[in-house]
Amino acid sequence: MVSGAPGRGRYNRVVIDATSATAAGVGAFPQVRPRRLRVTAGIRRLVRETRVSPDQLVLPAFAVAGRGVEQPIEALAGQRRQSPDLLAETAARVAAAGVRAMLVFGVTDDKDPAASAAYEAGAPAQAAVAAIKEAVPDMVVITDVCLCGYTDHGHCGVVVDGRVHNDLSLELLARTAVSHAEAGADIVAPSDMMDGRVGAIRAALDAEGHEDVAVLSYAAKYASAFYGPFREAVGSAPSTGDRRGYQMDPPTIREALREIAQDELEGADMVMVKPAATYLDVIAAARAASELPVAAYQVSGEYAMLKAAAARGWLDEREAALETLTAIVRAGADVVITYFAEDAAGWLQEASA
Ligand code: PBG
Repeated sequence: MVSGAPGRGRYNRVVIDATSATAAGVGAFPQVRPRRLRVTAGIRRLVRETRVSPDQLVLPAFAVAGRGVEQPIEALAGQRRQSPDLLAETAARVAAAGVRAMLVFGVTDDKDPAASAAYEAGAPAQAAVAAIKEAVPDMVVITDVCLCGYTDHGHCGVVVDGRVHNDLSLELLARTAVSHAEAGADIVAPSDMMDGRVGAIRAALDAEGHEDVAVLSYAAKYASAFYGPFREAVGSAPSTGDRRGYQMDPPTIREALREIAQDELEGADMVMVKPAATYLDVIAAARAASELPVAAYQVSGEYAMLKAAAARGWLDEREAALETLTAIVRAGADVVITYFAEDAAGWLQEASA
């Protein structure tokens, strides 16, 4: 019984006597007590509904030309651009930590209106793919297929009369995807948001004998403020305008389902929602609407926020990062692309040991 005794103020001094506790039941209580399943760590672990495994994680990686080149990315603490030889070492290290997939981005100063460096054999992304595959043949190598890092204006497609020309961009995107497949990519991931690019890429891959190379479509990619640090990493911010004419409008969700349905028809093997934490509803809707594996991208801004707060001691990095990854998987993602992949794989393995 908890009883009041005369003392200060309205509630007085409270005397706690556990031996005489009684609970007046309303409805299912006291027979039903959800807290029983939270009493010990063992029970909580037994009945946990969502489990995140290192198998689901994909580490983004930034490739630059050269040998022995390593450039830390200030806005993405702990991440770096690396030349292909060092990326191969990174692949071996993260594989040992349990990370089985990487998403490769090429970074270059070689930019022109036709994004020529995007589909050049031996350019940083292609060289990195080959180096990673040689060093760690089992690593699943995914490549980001886009033109924004290679065009002199920074848009994701070809610009004609000041506008991104959808259909002209398709041929260059397809060419880029084929060059990644030729370098050894297992999966190509178009992130440009042009209409029809999945079909164009699928047809081009098949025509070149790459029918086993899968397409992971950035199907529902929103025009998000959370890509800021990435654009520093790759130098891909558009010099004029923004990406709202092709990336999705954040307040929409039904349109995400149209994008997914269309990409499925064009032959996508997996679909992605991006960003992740601010689009958990879209992940859940995608999971319900599609039979394909659903990937979610915890983007640069999501990572940078957590890193910045953790660096100031305002958040526990490990707990906060794992909570976000759990939420993304709970919402329905099968695959999570995250800059935390290496650390998270280690944390998850420690936690399950
Ligand atoms: C290329 C691309 C971007 C990201 C992935 N692919 C940038 C953009 O669309 O501006 C963002 C990834 C991140 O923020 O971590 N189009």
